[in-house]
Amino acid sequence: MTTPDSAPPDQPVNWQRFLAERTQCMRSSAIRELLKISQLPGVISFAGGLPAPELFPVREIEEACSYLLRHEPKQALQYSTTEGYPPLREFLADSMSKYGIHHGPDNVLITTGSQQALDLIGKIFIDPGAYVLTGRPTYLGAIQAWRAYQSDFVTVPLDEHGMCVDQLEEIVTQTPVRFIYVLPNFHNPAGTTLSEERRHQLVDIARRHDLIIVEDDPYGALRYTGEDLIPVAALAPERTIYLGTFSKTLTPGLRIGWIVAPTEIRARLVQAKQGADLHTSTFDQMIANDIAQRGILKVHVRQLRDVYRERMTTMLDALEEFWPAGCSWTRPEGGLFLWAEAPDCVDGVEMLKVALDHKVAFVPGVNFYPHADGGQNAMRLNFSCAKPDSIVEGIHRLGRAIKDVLPE
Ligand SMILES: Cc1ncc(COP(=O)(O)O)c(C=O)c1O
Repeated sequence: MTTPDSAPPDQPVNWQRFLAERTQCMRSSAIRELLKISQLPGVISFAGGLPAPELFPVREIEEACSYLLRHEPKQALQYSTTEGYPPLREFLADSMSKYGIHHGPDNVLITTGSQQALDLIGKIFIDPGAYVLTGRPTYLGAIQAWRAYQSDFVTVPLDEHGMCVDQLEEIVTQTPVRFIYVLPNFHNPAGTTLSEERRHQLVDIARRHDLIIVEDDPYGALRYTGEDLIPVAALAPERTIYLGTFSKTLTPGLRIGWIVAPTEIRARLVQAKQGADLHTSTFDQMIANDIAQRGILKVHVRQLRDVYRERMTTMLDALEEFWPAGCSWTRPEGGLFLWAEAPDCVDGVEMLKVALDHKVAFVPGVNFYPHADGGQNAMRLNFSCAKPDSIVEGIHRLGRAIKDVLPE
């Protein structure tokens, strides 16, 4: 039955009218549309952040699935606790302690990928208009997650040694920030590593100003040259929330990440996660645990390091060979990305269109700046997903595309 004022069934609903204020802060990037083209056959894509799919330990995961379904089906397919599967938490606490992070399993929370960890952090810390301090550039997924909570950002530039922490003090004295977000190892997108000296400086500033730090470390295990550096969480366990993930070391499809945090904050994060998804897939956690406990993960990571090191070196050599004068790039010690800059007159977004005509793709640097105030001539290049031949060909094509857009 309809009243005289009710909307007729064929009238379109004005959904906009019902959306929460914070939903207006969520943006889907125009670049995503452009990058859909990069999925087309024949395009060599350096755009994604994907691990090499041909290296996924498929047989080992299949064995783990069969084993679990045969021997532990009631547990594997059942609801479980929000905190996460205890043996996996114990494994993670133990492996973190080898890097100097000595929290126990009770300080570990399993998350549905690190992306969920970023979202939960936004949920518990960010009020509308609150400031988050990040590097410039920084991880796009973090900007997206925190914008949804109506955060604002204050930013610090990066150089070849990571975040310029000497500029932090001035910012934090002027602006109250909820937390400092750092990506110390093999930064996404910049490919840089925060030097040990700067890690100490960062902790010193955080202590003096009583600030907390979010340390996002998806790539730490993927080091190809040099020595491991001490995690920020090991230097300042009382004020650092550490994020890890199996996405790059095992497979992103399992969606297993973790947070290591001081007790009080871990309890808040557990509450936030309850409302989000009750818990991360029990089955996926048990698969990851099986792979990790049987030592397969360790061997797999060793293989990844060898393959990715070769791909990174191939890309660096190809850049040297094919790109015109005036371009520069970072030389990462690990991870999946490097950051390249064309001469200042080149606009990265325009450049992407030309690059797609040459059948090669990348992500324009400006997307990684919370205020779109930098990276106009920059590109993030992923080197893990394409095979060496394609890397050489793709960098050659990109070099031609840059020459096309450079003035005569
Ligand atoms: C810096 C950083 N943080 C978090 C994530 C999210 O990873 P996950 O697949 O664990 O959600 C990524 C993924 O690329 C990343 O690069």
